Amino acid sequence: MTEVDLDGLHAFIASSEGSYPPVFVGREPELNTLMTAARETWHLFRTGQSGSLSKRTHIVHGAPGAGKSTLLWELDQRLHAVAPETGRPRLLYTNSAELEMDMNMVLERMEGLARLDADNWQQRLKTMASRVSGSINFGPFTTSLDPDDSLHGRPQTLGQLRERLPPDRWQTPVVLAIDEFQNIGSSEQSPVSRLLQALHEASCGLPVMLVLSGLGNSPDQARKIGLTRGLAVTGIGCLSEEEARALVRGWCRHYGLDTDEHGTEIDHFADSTGGWPRHLHFALQALAGELVRSDVDGQLSRVFWQGVMNGSMDLRRKYYYDQQSPEMQASAYLVAALMRDLQPERGPIGVDRLIHRHRRKESGWRLPDGMSSWDFQSHLIHRGVLHPGDDSSLSCPIPSFRDFLIAQGEPAPAPAQEPDGASPQP
Ligand SMILES: Nc1ncnc2c1ncn2[C@@H]1O[C@H](COP(=O)(O)OP(=O)(O)OP(=O)(O)O)[C@@H](O)[C@H]1O
Ligand SMILES: [Mg+2]
Repeated sequence: MTEVDLDGLHAFIASSEGSYPPVFVGREPELNTLMTAARETWHLFRTGQSGSLSKRTHIVHGAPGAGKSTLLWELDQRLHAVAPETGRPRLLYTNSAELEMDMNMVLERMEGLARLDADNWQQRLKTMASRVSGSINFGPFTTSLDPDDSLHGRPQTLGQLRERLPPDRWQTPVVLAIDEFQNIGSSEQSPVSRLLQALHEASCGLPVMLVLSGLGNSPDQARKIGLTRGLAVTGIGCLSEEEARALVRGWCRHYGLDTDEHGTEIDHFADSTGGWPRHLHFALQALAGELVRSDVDGQLSRVFWQGVMNGSMDLRRKYYYDQQSPEMQASAYLVAALMRDLQPERGPIGVDRLIHRHRRKESGWRLPDGMSSWDFQSHLIHRGVLHPGDDSSLSCPIPSFRDFLIAQGEPAPAPAQEPDGASPQP
């Protein structure tokens, strides 16, 4: 019989809500698309079709906890498994805040990845690490400094990177993955926007593919900073029932738990999450908490499932509570009324009408200070309360989050006044 990994379960309990899962499931179509596109980038580059490298940017969007960052991690793992002699693409992970804070560092890392096959590269880094000051991250994403070049300054622009490392010296295509893309600044003229425009247009002819991942307003943000046409946009949401069940079973096996006798409880437990990846993480943390109790001692037969589900709901509620912005809290009744009446087929104009129908002058019912109804709508998209579908309709992507927001606004005092006037469309 396999021994139950209690230490591993303790580590899982301590892991953060965004940590890489011990078992990954689903997302095969998205991963295949990105893998194929990355390999095509290399093929086009190597066969002299650099003109076709432009406008190949991918955007992955989803509400908070849909699994966007995890998808990028998994992509990194899979790219690692590609044989180096076929031009193994490398993933360079960053997020919008890091890119805006230190764009040159990102260019420097890109140079490092492109220059050498990364295994060789890590080896060099390890042998030279004692000579270099500054932080070197050997984490799951392969992002490293080149000790030699750090002695000779950093590329400040894409043009400089091209001078330092002309196209014929690129050893590998680079997938530049920018997470939390919804937070990118919206000026078209900023240095970061110009860099991204140049990469999107492939104006330097380098084999770099952009993958932008973020909340539902990420495609809009991309357009605002001048990335036009050629954006492949993919939304991700709940895992299917089978995937959620497979995840819980795989997770149990990963920690040495024998699932044979407990299929029904496990499936019921997985179904209670609605397949939302972050809820699955919380549910599994609650289950791990139960399993490490001394009277349970890693035995699924001793688990009190209802208690685990209650614990999972508590973690989820706390998360929902933290997800609310001060603006949402100040307009809690308005948000609740909006959530209650929201029909999935409503687009931005329909949602704006709904806001106007419900807004009042009283506290809790009015729009947050300084916000128009359109600002508030954007804010709700930015917080993952509303998420655009493929047909540009807006809905709340997580049913239990919607229920929570409705409950937050209850019991709402009956509005005494007429609606609080309308604001013009932007
Ligand atoms: N495909 C998957 N298989 C297994 N677990 C997953 C999967 N996707 C996500 N998870 C788990 O769900 C949780 C949320 O995932 P993640 O942090 O990637 O979401 P996110 O969309 O990046 O959220 P945020 O918008 O808050 O950054 C993590 O604990 C992760 O381990
Ligand atoms: Mg994330």
